[in-house]
Amino acid sequence: MKSAVTTPRAGARADDLGFDVERVRQDFPILTLKVNDKPLVFLDNAASSQMPQQVIDRYVRYRSREHANIHRAVHYLSEVATREYEAVRAKVRALINAREEREIVYTSGTTESINLVMHGYGRKFIGADDEVILSVLEHHSNIVPWQMLAQESGAHLRVVPCNDAGELDIDAYRSLFNARTRFVAVGHVSNALGTVNPVKEMVAIAHAHGVPILLDGAQAAPHLQVDVQDLDCDFYAFSGHKMCGPTGVGILYGKAERLRAMQPFKGGGDMILSVTFDRTVYADIPQKFEAGTPPIAEVIGLGAAIDYLNGIGLDAIKAHEDELLRYATDRVGELSGVRIIGRARSKAAVLSFEVDGVHPHDVGTLLNEDGVAVRTGHHCAQPVMQRFGVPATARASFAFYNTLREIDVLVGAIRKVQKVFAG
Ligand code: ALA
Repeated sequence: MKSAVTTPRAGARADDLGFDVERVRQDFPILTLKVNDKPLVFLDNAASSQMPQQVIDRYVRYRSREHANIHRAVHYLSEVATREYEAVRAKVRALINAREEREIVYTSGTTESINLVMHGYGRKFIGADDEVILSVLEHHSNIVPWQMLAQESGAHLRVVPCNDAGELDIDAYRSLFNARTRFVAVGHVSNALGTVNPVKEMVAIAHAHGVPILLDGAQAAPHLQVDVQDLDCDFYAFSGHKMCGPTGVGILYGKAERLRAMQPFKGGGDMILSVTFDRTVYADIPQKFEAGTPPIAEVIGLGAAIDYLNGIGLDAIKAHEDELLRYATDRVGELSGVRIIGRARSKAAVLSFEVDGVHPHDVGTLLNEDGVAVRTGHHCAQPVMQRFGVPATARASFAFYNTLREIDVLVGAIRKVQKVFAG
């Protein structure tokens, strides 16, 4: 069995694994753009990554030669679209090593995946005075749905704290479990800090208490080899557009018995076996959760993105991104007047920082003048900002098509920001 997070040979370099970043960059037309007369340096990949030509071409081919609605007709185009759409389930199953294709539910993205679990599982099994464990590192999409559930059911949220490096306190996590704990929902990788949480251990602790656990993998799936059987999580959620696929499509993985126990969230066409005015019999999983016309082109685009990532190899991607993160942490870390927020020992692809005396929005605006795209703000993770006592940070987030040279541009641009504000 694959391990949950594949670690390339100690000290392995991406180029040892056959990775040539300059060649890879040629697949991404957008990377040739100039912004403010400077070459685009795109370091906002945690918000949304860019698409290679192979994915764009696949999307256009579907749109121009293969489109019809799925599961609804016997004509040629409907059969082609249905076959191509369903074939992606096998690719996703293999990507995350799920046991069965029916454990793969198509959604519109991570947010919808988590909301589906909240409605389908939470509203059925979590009631007054029950407890749900989250962590302080969560994205709002893994907080607000559980808060909504708590408000309507009278359940309570319990929050795992983190240390000053941005690492979750696992002893505190362990001590939060009690007879009322009904569910755990935690991120695999923090979008604001990049911390890789020890989720395999967290799953084992939850299961030792008989509690199911959802992992928000939005920031993990693009960077790490995920193995849901090895992790043994009950649910795993991620998005297409952060892994070189289209927006509007995501995945909810759920163990078959968990998905079967859930009630559907959306009712409508394609999720039923039979309907009368007295009674509806739902389809089996995963169709039970896929009411209405789905994002067919986007699912097929996601399949092409998975093929593309597999073609490069997640080991090579991880090795290259680790090198980028190490280099960026060293170079940005040596700038006086710059504070890196999030120094966890295990991190992926994210560098959040503050420049003394400069609001992060001003940092972002001035970096943009040099063609450098970073995200500034609270990163949809306000509790993380509160934990570190800042209103916002600037965040550089890397993808495998970024280069060390681009990090030099980032560092030069930060120096310019400091000069502007010093002067
Ligand atoms: N969740 C995305 C981010 O971290 C939007 O930027």
